[in-house]
Amino acid sequence: MLFSQQIRFKRDGRALQPEAIRSFIREYASDMIPDYQMAAMLMAVFFKGLNPDELWAWTDAMLRSGDVMDFSDIPGAKVDKHSTGGVGDKISIPLAPLVAACGVNVPMISGRGLGHTGGTLDKLESIPGFKTRIGTNEFRAALAANGVAMLGQTENIVPADKRMYSLRDVTGTVESIPLIAASIMSKKLAEGISGLVLDVKVGSGAFMKGVDQARELAGTLVAVGQAGGVRTTAFLTDMDEPLGTMVGNALEIVESVQILRNEGPADTTALTVELGARMLLLGGVVVSHEEGRERILGAIASGAGLDKFRAMIAAQGGNPAVADDLSILPRAARQIGVKASRNGYVTAVDCEKVGIASLLVGGGRRRKEDEIDPAVGVRILARRGTFVSVGDDVAVIEYNSDASLDAASKLLSSAFSIGDEMVPAGPLVIDVIDGAAL
Ligand code: URA
Repeated sequence: MLFSQQIRFKRDGRALQPEAIRSFIREYASDMIPDYQMAAMLMAVFFKGLNPDELWAWTDAMLRSGDVMDFSDIPGAKVDKHSTGGVGDKISIPLAPLVAACGVNVPMISGRGLGHTGGTLDKLESIPGFKTRIGTNEFRAALAANGVAMLGQTENIVPADKRMYSLRDVTGTVESIPLIAASIMSKKLAEGISGLVLDVKVGSGAFMKGVDQARELAGTLVAVGQAGGVRTTAFLTDMDEPLGTMVGNALEIVESVQILRNEGPADTTALTVELGARMLLLGGVVVSHEEGRERILGAIASGAGLDKFRAMIAAQGGNPAVADDLSILPRAARQIGVKASRNGYVTAVDCEKVGIASLLVGGGRRRKEDEIDPAVGVRILARRGTFVSVGDDVAVIEYNSDASLDAASKLLSSAFSIGDEMVPAGPLVIDVIDGAAL
């Protein structure tokens, strides 16, 4: 059947044959289908969705458009974690070495900052010398030696997604649950993993603002993972205020080291423990989530996680002394406080505004090709539920250049809502969707 007929089929709400999907994704990846036709297909999928068979065929075809890693020669389970993105979400950085310290390999492929949300690669690159652009052989060697390695997305992993994502970005077809699921899961399944923990963020700072929508995305991601033979669990977690207290690249490395030293904020430490416990369970080194929690807490208390962090940094060309001396990290030359506008309780901290304030002083990119300043960002002093008096500092901007400082200060100030009544924060983990139970 011609591709134009397939587009009409989907437009009219009919199911496509899995073989037809495999064939047109293959042709699109080889430039045999033009963007204008694929754009029409994407819009048809946006409105009519994909059934589970169509979705698996779509994801599997995307996955096969490039290299699929195979770490079967490295003993032990390989489990990764993926977050749908938030503000202050540095969890991957302490999590990966902690899980590796407990005996599960973590081959992690991460991304760069996108809009108001930060990226693990940018954060890691604030460690002097740390390389995230390493070849597959170096990645494999680091994984075999230490049980953990962190790499940037390469041109060869799911090239069809690179092209399709750019097309979705300019054709209003990003916000489609099946297309998001195929895009995320094709990249994760290409990592050669046996287990995957997903952290689906919900709230003002997240891609998914409402819990029902987030639950639908989580269920779809888990179903695709299970269809691909990867044990998958999704956590729905709160992103109604930034995670932890630090937002910015080197600043988030500081907080990551604090978590590994057992000196981190309660929420980032708790989430690291929860996600790590489930990675150990999916990796088969513990028999229950509770035992997983104890093992991760043990690796924090003994310093085994911090040791793995040092080893991972050294293997990727960075200075491992960062784990012991945070002054090695780039530090902004200047700081300015943002004041409370009235007495009362902090009732909300708008994630998007905090993320954009950090971006405005150079912590993120306005355009893809922008350089970021690793030293700058925002430290949050007053979190939800804190009582503040007028004139108290609620946050501090760490900056090097005055350009956009005024705009960043105003935006950050408006991120804090202050009221007379204390509004209790909801739970950090809202729900868990376990693939084994589907
Ligand atoms: N992240 C991805 O990798 N793909 C999407 O479609 C959305 C978020």
